Amino acid sequence: MSKKHVSRRQFLNYTLTGVGGFMAAGMLMPMVRFAVDPVLQKEAGGDFIATPQKVAEITEVPTRVDFSFTQKDAWYESEMTNSAWVYKNANGEIVALSPTCKHLGCTVDWNSDKANPEHFYCPCHGGLYKKDGTNVPGTPPTAPLDVYPIKEKDGLLYLGKAEPRKKEA
Ligand code: FES
Repeated sequence: MSKKHVSRRQFLNYTLTGVGGFMAAGMLMPMVRFAVDPVLQKEAGGDFIATPQKVAEITEVPTRVDFSFTQKDAWYESEMTNSAWVYKNANGEIVALSPTCKHLGCTVDWNSDKANPEHFYCPCHGGLYKKDGTNVPGTPPTAPLDVYPIKEKDGLLYLGKAEPRKKEA
């Protein structure tokens, strides 16, 4: 049986390599976790946000409903505010439209253009949308206003994430 002799230099090399590796792992692990963690987080999408709007008080006239929520962007949480134009359509269904113009993102208003009453109007470049959110041809927007999925809970209106309006047949 041969006894392997470890020289002082080898011993120092092994020790320093081991300690260095241990320290490098200690530094790298948080960085890797920092980079990968958001990917591993469960997608919070699909959550509905409570608004102060009572469902029973929604009428056929579009009303601006402002609401706030906490947005988690990777590691940062910030308090955001948003709004929706909410009304009941002819079938009594609640409609919640995004106020963000589909041209360049300005905020649309209801019934504020005297030349086109009962329309959503974008003051930035004269964009027009019908009450159901469809864009009026010949004006800058090329798509309808996004639509919020809605829910009712405890008499209040809850809104999901606004999404492009589905094409109707
Ligand atoms: S941003 Fe609305 S019409 Fe241009």
